Amino acid sequence: MKPSDTSSEVLLRGHEITRRWGGLVALDRVSLALERGSVHAVIGTNGAGKSTLINILSGEIPPSNGSVELLGQDVTDWTQPRRARLGLGRSYQRNTIYPSFTVFENCRLAAQASTQKPWQWWRSAQHCEASTSAARQAAARAGLTDLLDRPAGLLSHGQKRQLEIAMCLATSPQVLLLDEPLAGMGAEETERMLALLSELKTGHAILLVEHDMDAVFRIAERITVMVNGAVIASDAPAGIRSNPQVRLAYLGEH
Ligand SMILES: Nc1ncnc2c1ncn2[C@@H]1O[C@H](COP(=O)(O)OP(=O)(O)O)[C@@H](O)[C@H]1O
Ligand SMILES: [Mg+2]
Repeated sequence: MKPSDTSSEVLLRGHEITRRWGGLVALDRVSLALERGSVHAVIGTNGAGKSTLINILSGEIPPSNGSVELLGQDVTDWTQPRRARLGLGRSYQRNTIYPSFTVFENCRLAAQASTQKPWQWWRSAQHCEASTSAARQAAARAGLTDLLDRPAGLLSHGQKRQLEIAMCLATSPQVLLLDEPLAGMGAEETERMLALLSELKTGHAILLVEHDMDAVFRIAERITVMVNGAVIASDAPAGIRSNPQVRLAYLGEH
């Protein structure tokens, strides 16, 4: 949609990121840039390094080499909570919700965790109001308004993934790192999630790690293909589809 000569706004940049686990090179000089208003998908077979990349960008683990820039600042040495406060949100490959808490309570906890020091959270009524309203807005944006009072453990699989997105949104991020948000979803849930993601593009930069190739090719502006920790191609979907190296290494018959 956007002409390529329009100046883009890079919100998150990974520069030459390498990660070793003992003798294994899980990531080999991976660079990528996430722009506001677009979905950047990272695809690759199991073990390619996708989750490791997300963990490094989010600050969960440090890179062996390379750097991460968030909103123009070098955050390579920052902790995950500090990056979150600057505007980085992430979801996990496995659910991280509290099943006995309601949808609203899960969102509010996420909002509180992102704005407050843990030892202050019960103190300030003002903060409490702010996180209550952030939680409501996030749940609404993720399509969960009707389920605010439902214990999260009673949600369907697809609704749980929506809740994960809502919890991410409750932290008011500008960048969203999503690790397989469509995993295990049926067709209808997938459609709902894709509609949500394309709506969330506005105002956010989204990194999407996903195995569902149909979904990836439908929704992504850019696709980075990884094999054994290295980027073998990064291009618009049409370019990736016709890239002989990608077809050989990854897409097979697609
Ligand atoms: N904590 C860890 N310790 C040792 N090796 C790891 C660890 N996490 C990931 N790896 C290895 O790094 C490689 C990349 O893993 P991962 O990033 O999870 O791949 P993907 O998400 O693409 O499936 C794999 O070979 C995996 O076994
Ligand atoms: Mg993974």
